[in-house]
Formats: sequence, structure tokens, C-alpha cells
Amino acid sequence: MRKAKTKFNRPPLILPVCLVGANVDGKPNFEAIAWFNIADYNPYLISISSERTHYTNKGIRKNKEFSINVPSADMAAVTDYCGTYSGEKVDKSKVFDVFYGELTNAPMISECPINVECKLARTIELSHGEVFIGEVVGVYIEEKYLTGNKPDIRKIDPLLFEEGLGNYWKLGKHIGKIHNIGKDYKPKSK
Ligand SMILES: Cc1cc2nc3c(=O)[nH]c(=O)nc-3n(C[C@H](O)[C@H](O)[C@H](O)COP(=O)(O)O)c2cc1C
Repeated sequence: MRKAKTKFNRPPLILPVCLVGANVDGKPNFEAIAWFNIADYNPYLISISSERTHYTNKGIRKNKEFSINVPSADMAAVTDYCGTYSGEKVDKSKVFDVFYGELTNAPMISECPINVECKLARTIELSHGEVFIGEVVGVYIEEKYLTGNKPDIRKIDPLLFEEGLGNYWKLGKHIGKIHNIGKDYKPKSK
């Protein structure tokens, strides 16, 4: 069966949202970013794609450091706020309780269950955006989000975003483990 090409140019992908932190003009600023991804390991690299005009970009370009903070679903409103209003116009430095790890210009958000501090490793210039690739310097997760020393995604309850349609979602059910759910799968020939 041949599928007909749709009129959509943006696939409705489900993406976790993060709050990217940077110090800009001497103050912490945070923006919502759904376009982020793991780019490599050893060193472990995470990429974020942020429009060049954003206030956050100014701080990342200057200090070459940023943070990635994963909000839980109950932080949807404050995440949306940080993704609606620019630090150019509103002061977002007091919205969260901020802490620092090893890096002095990667402000992190205490209220978020997962915090990652990154050193800028590379920047890729695109037509509208800058892809900042950060090397992970430290990962912070409070004990209350762990079960038996491992991060517990049910406790973290990450905020999810539906690309293209702009909806927020919560995580569903656990359905299996990597290299296990498919290990006995028998492909049917077409
Ligand atoms: C849920 C959500 C996801 C977003 N994802 C991105 C993204 O991946 N890249 C981007 O450039 N802007 C994204 N934005 C828009 C920025 O967060 C927004 O323009 C923000 O106000 C920029 O803040 P700043 O100017 O203080 O840096 C997103 C906004 C929301 C609400």
C-alpha cells in the first residue's frame, strides 16, 4: 500500500521539553526548548537548537556554558511562560530558585527534577537557529526522584510536547526494556 503525502510539513513528533539556562548580562535567564537531543557519547554531548535572536543565545555565545533543566509535567505553566516571554523584555532571573554546579555560567533550576550543566563544544549555524552542542560536565538529580539508586521516570514525570500542534502531554505506560522486548521477535516476510 502506498501512502499519500500529507499537507503537513512538520511531523507531529512527541518531544520532551527542557528549560535551557544561561547567564545573560550578568543574570540567569531560561528559555523553553523542545528541540534538543543526545548527539554523542564519550564525551557525552547534548545538542539544543535555539533561534539566533533569543536572549539566551547571547549568554551562551558569550560564556560558552549553559544548562539543561528537565521540568516535570506540573511545571507546564512556568515552562510555557519561559517559552512565551523573552528575557529581552521580562526579567526571568527570579522565576526559579537557581543553583550552580562546577560551571559559573550555567545556572540550574532547583525545582526541575533533572539538571545538566554543559560546556559549549561546538556551534552549528543554521538559517534561523544556532545548534549549540554542549559537553556534559555534571548531572544533578535529587534523591526523591530515585528508586533504588536509579532515576525513576514516574517520579520525574517529564513534560512532553507535541511538535507542530503545540500540545503538552504527560508520560504514558511502561511497555518494555531495550534489547529485550524485541530480542525474540520474528520478522514476517512481506
Ligand atoms: C514548549 C516550547 C518549546 C520551545 N522550543 C523551542 C526550541 O526548541 N527552539 C527555539 O528556538 N525556541 C523554542 N521555543 C521558544 C522560546 O522558548 C521562546 O522564544 C523564548 O521566549 C525565548 O526566550 P529568551 O529570548 O529569553 O531566550 C519554545 C517555546 C515553548 C513554549
